[in-house]
Amino acid sequence: MLRFSSISLLALSCVALLATKVLADELEDVTGDISPPSAEPHINPTSQMVSPQLLFANYKIEAFLLSVAVGLVASYFYGSRKNKELAMAWEKPISDVLYANFSLVGDGRQAFEWDSAADILFYASGRRHCKFVQGHMVLRARQDAVALINDLAANTQEKVEIEVTLSDGESSGFVFAAVPRKRSKAIGRDRYDIATFTKIVNNNKVSPKVAIFSESADVTTQLLESGLGDILADENTLLEELHVTDSPSEKPESHDFKCEKKLMAVIRLPAATAEGLAQFKEMLEFVFYLVDYISEAITLRPESMRKLGKAREEAYKEFTRMAEQEKQDALAKTLAEKRRIELEGVDKMSPEQRRKWEEKDRKKQLKKEQSKRVRRVR
Ligand SMILES: *[C@@H]1O[C@H](CO)[C@@H](O)[C@H](O)[C@H]1NC(C)=O
Repeated sequence: MLRFSSISLLALSCVALLATKVLADELEDVTGDISPPSAEPHINPTSQMVSPQLLFANYKIEAFLLSVAVGLVASYFYGSRKNKELAMAWEKPISDVLYANFSLVGDGRQAFEWDSAADILFYASGRRHCKFVQGHMVLRARQDAVALINDLAANTQEKVEIEVTLSDGESSGFVFAAVPRKRSKAIGRDRYDIATFTKIVNNNKVSPKVAIFSESADVTTQLLESGLGDILADENTLLEELHVTDSPSEKPESHDFKCEKKLMAVIRLPAATAEGLAQFKEMLEFVFYLVDYISEAITLRPESMRKLGKAREEAYKEFTRMAEQEKQDALAKTLAEKRRIELEGVDKMSPEQRRKWEEKDRKKQLKKEQSKRVRRVR
């Protein structure tokens, strides 16, 4: 699959269209010159000779458009190859760590799957304390000249995003995030779990470029003690973002949403030198170390646990109500259906049978009414 941005595609098709148009116009001119039978039978052969300069002048626009098209296509091949080389350099540290930690990596044969020339996916499962890990390596769109200019102008980082789905019930549920301060406003607004449960906390041990969202001081202290504190204190750390959550990142639309515990990390890709590769590998190892740390080392105080539980109860109130309403609706529907079938049966009865049934039914309804009243009185 090619990731060719729509703008590039548009540019390419415009170039092609324009070229065709210009060529068509000129062909028309040429044929237009020829088609009317010439009044002059003697054509001077020299007048037909066109000097090369004139030829170039005539085809200047085509030449320009053609070179743009060739440029775009060449940059696609060049950029794709460049990204392939880069990805191959990064595959080693990533797959080393994955193979050391997981029993199944990728499809069993290779770790990486190419989603486009700038997006590489990986997957692994079979490790303690987690269900699986999904990764996404995002390179610059070198294959796409227009998108690349955009990437360079916006100074987008090349990065690896990692999402570990943790095992259920092996760790306490909480929401924590460390993000670049300049993006903290947007993240705090857009992510449901962060907006609902956490507040920005001031921590003078981490770099001022980092903003920390947490819902419990107990969680913050224990998580930072894992070594995360030192990493976040370093202004040049490769760790761009870290999230630990037990709640959905988007507001659920119905009550039967899944609450999964997740650890997400964004690691910046440095230059692919031996040192850069080693630094990156170390950071990746730290992320998997955190999986163990969260499940084994974090033990929250009972009052912290109570606070977390209460916050969830409060936040999910509307969903609990929704669930109860749905249950009641379903029950009412079943009862109504039962009654309908019963009445259908009565329709088929003889008058004698029907009389008996009506008698019995009246008694039954009366009893029901009574028991309801008794319950109300009690
Ligand atoms: C994960 O991999 C690292 C080496 O990259 C290793 O030191 C560590 O023990 C592994 N963890 C598990 C649980 O296999």
